[in-house]
Amino acid sequence: MRQSGPVSLPEPSRRDTRLDQYVDAYAERTHGLQVSAVRALFAVANRPEVVSLAGGMPNIADLPREALGEAMSRLVAERGVQAMQYGSGQGELFMREQIVEVMAEEHIHAHPDDVVVSCGSQQALDLVTRVFIDPGDVILAEGPSYVGALGTFHAYQAKVVHVAMDDHGILPDALRQALVSLRAAGERVKFLYTIPNFQNPTGVTQPVERRRAILEVAKEYDLLIIEDNPYGLLTLEGEPMPAMRSMDADNVVYLGSFSKTFAPGFRIGWALAPHAVREKLVLTQEAATLAPPVFSQYAISTYLNEFDWRGQIVAFRDMYRERRDAMLAGLAEHMPPGSTWTVPNGGFFVWLTLPEGIDSQAMLPRAVSARVAFTPGTAFYADGLGSRNLRLSFCFPPPERILEGTRRLGEVIAAEMEMNRTFGIIPGTARHNDLQTGPAPDIS
Ligand SMILES: Cc1ncc(COP(=O)(O)O)c(C=O)c1O
Repeated sequence: MRQSGPVSLPEPSRRDTRLDQYVDAYAERTHGLQVSAVRALFAVANRPEVVSLAGGMPNIADLPREALGEAMSRLVAERGVQAMQYGSGQGELFMREQIVEVMAEEHIHAHPDDVVVSCGSQQALDLVTRVFIDPGDVILAEGPSYVGALGTFHAYQAKVVHVAMDDHGILPDALRQALVSLRAAGERVKFLYTIPNFQNPTGVTQPVERRRAILEVAKEYDLLIIEDNPYGLLTLEGEPMPAMRSMDADNVVYLGSFSKTFAPGFRIGWALAPHAVREKLVLTQEAATLAPPVFSQYAISTYLNEFDWRGQIVAFRDMYRERRDAMLAGLAEHMPPGSTWTVPNGGFFVWLTLPEGIDSQAMLPRAVSARVAFTPGTAFYADGLGSRNLRLSFCFPPPERILEGTRRLGEVIAAEMEMNRTFGIIPGTARHNDLQTGPAPDIS
């Protein structure tokens, strides 16, 4: 009799990946790829006893999951044949039309034809980088900047040059100076990558005047701007700000996402680009994926049509505001003197500057032992700065856990300071200066 069920095969042996027979075959662009120094620690940080202020996962537990489940079930039954089929490389027209409607919340007037749907805004960033960057080209970015963008830029062998920022984002004069000196040195500067709203990792927002000033410098020097804006609608004070793209349609490629305003698992983001750039992005998207996830576009479109998505964003804002306030209260109560931090008006992150003499990466294992985790500041620089900084996220743990996390963190920092005193590491001395990799950014 024929046997039903899978044929039983010997268990595959797990090969030792340290002996890599392909070592000479890998493309040059993979040589810089590194396992994050803190990945192993983050595995521990995800244990329930640890308060993780490290990740950037949105809290989606309050989405109306039952009603969503029913809507998805109807979608499969009624439109599954189209929704589960291959689709357009640019993204489905209905999705692009709805994306235009979402962007209008930030004063952007755009045509659906200029939108390219992507697999999260992360893929849009990858496509833009692929379209513009040859090895050795320069990308300007805030210092510090989003770790996922730095990884993409690195993968395409770009040189990232950080531009100084303050509490209002990139300094236009620093941008001008960087452009002048890089161009004088014969460097090919391809674009400025910026996150104007509630920046990851600092939480800082560019006021409208600062946006205009940056756009003016960019125009003067023929510089393309990549405006990455996954958090713009998650404002915790007042109305969403006008996007840079709303002020300049010719020099800005805008990247958007449903990851933070709805849910990241659908992996739907987009790029809005000047027409010629859009053309290149579509061809690149087709080469990469044939088409962005079709079912996810139907699912998100169903959500936008059938649910109160604007109301849901208001609910998200209220929830994140409570968490942001818990973090700020906890920091005010528990941070030792000499620590400073940003006060974000939205998004997910606070950027902490530690008292002099403390190295956030060196402190991380001791923090995880004390059951609190954060992301060390060095992760957000391409050039090794940030040792006195760390990023704290308030998006995922509930307020009481955030408070407890800041209490534990305060104790860990105080213990580091005590250890420095015991071992004679005094801020401002030669010994201390050896331990710092560079000046902290000018953000209080
Ligand atoms: C600044 C920034 N850009 C892009 C992304 C990627 O988002 P997604 O690919 O989920 O749209 C993130 C995610 O955390 C982010 O913080």
